[in-house]
Amino acid sequence: MMMCYWVDHLRVISFLSVGIISLNFSEADIVIPDSEDPGLGLPSIVIPEDSKLTKSIIKLGEKLFFDKLLSRDRTVSCATCHVPEQGFTQNDRPKSVGVDGKIGRRNTPTLLNIAFADSLFVDGRASSLEEQAWQPILAEDEMGNSSVSEVLDRISTDKKYQSMFKNSFGEKSVNKDNVAIALSAYQRALVSGGSPYDKWYYESEAEAMGPSAQRGYQLFAGQAQCWQCHQIAGSGVLFSDNLFHNTGVSFRSHKLGASVDLGRYEITKINDDKRTFKTPTLRNVTLTAPYMHDGSLSTLEEVVRFYNDGGSDDPLISPIMGSLNLSKNDIKDIVEYLHALNGNLPLKN
Ligand code: HEC
Ligand code: HEC
Repeated sequence: MMMCYWVDHLRVISFLSVGIISLNFSEADIVIPDSEDPGLGLPSIVIPEDSKLTKSIIKLGEKLFFDKLLSRDRTVSCATCHVPEQGFTQNDRPKSVGVDGKIGRRNTPTLLNIAFADSLFVDGRASSLEEQAWQPILAEDEMGNSSVSEVLDRISTDKKYQSMFKNSFGEKSVNKDNVAIALSAYQRALVSGGSPYDKWYYESEAEAMGPSAQRGYQLFAGQAQCWQCHQIAGSGVLFSDNLFHNTGVSFRSHKLGASVDLGRYEITKINDDKRTFKTPTLRNVTLTAPYMHDGSLSTLEEVVRFYNDGGSDDPLISPIMGSLNLSKNDIKDIVEYLHALNGNLPLKN
């Protein structure tokens, strides 16, 4: 059971079993990660050559991220869809909604730990955050702008932005690349490690994870085959192999009436890529419902039952997928384990 209530602009989500997590991204100061050691259980952060991760650039990126001025009619910011209090996703919408109430094709993915993704978007069509940043700003069903220059014009006429860009990048520096660098820097700071699982696994804290979650881990890393795609080997892990797989979700949704989504195939045009999607991270996954690229499964229990039944009868389904013979209790234990993947949030105090 989960209760949500608002206290001043502060949303407190109280998970009765997990204790109180308070998330307040608009007021608290975000922690600048140590790129060599961003948190227990996480690998190091690789920053592209032309990008930077300084305090002033992160602050600028944060302002841009929360600013509706980035959308054509000033109604939508990045945070409208990537809601910080909801794990940088949107819990109440299977698919995102942009300017003029236009419904997008896909579910909003989390941005927590996006610093570690090898490719961006569920079909991997962008290879860096910098390359990704302008796509939502220009997408007709997201922020709806028809040109880069109209957005840059709005930003440059704002006094506060003028001084922030100057401090971050020097004189006359409001340009396309610097907007992308700032948005990327903010997102790279959204790291989240140190989950109960990390403490249990990497620091041998026996009490960090209860017996049910521990059984769930054994299943995840064994009989249930989850580890094959949600990779967990190594000293820093994201529970993703950063590859694309067909788990049968898209085929199932289409049979239930959704429009066709061919996933990675739309980019590569390789037949075997049909209906494959990027393996998402499972860190903080309890915060990011509904699930899958189309938000078609609403709870983690539904997700594990989906896997237990072998996905769907998609003829191109991954050979790794198959019935798992998990008992009701096994399913519960795996869900309990997924709960233990919630990490620290990158906020001061
Ligand atoms: C209208 C809702 C909406 C807005 C506004 C929006 N996004 Fe997204 N975002 C999405 C959806 C939906 C996806 C997944 C789309 C896909 O994969 O094809 C996504 C994907 C992403 C990804 C890739 C995540 C991953 O796991 O690969 C990043 C990064 C991102 N958005 C950042 C931003 C930034 C930065 C902004 C503001 C400039 C922004 N988004 C604005 C809905 C939105
Ligand atoms: C064949 C590779 C593969 C296996 C095996 C696999 N997954 Fe996944 N998982 C994926 C892919 C790919 C997606 C994204 C699918 C989509 O968006 O349509 C995904 C999505 C998920 C999601 C939704 C995450 C989100 O944010 O929407 C959860 C939760 C999940 N998997 C848990 C598990 C568990 C638990 C197991 C084991 C029972 C498992 N997975 C086995 C590849 C796999």
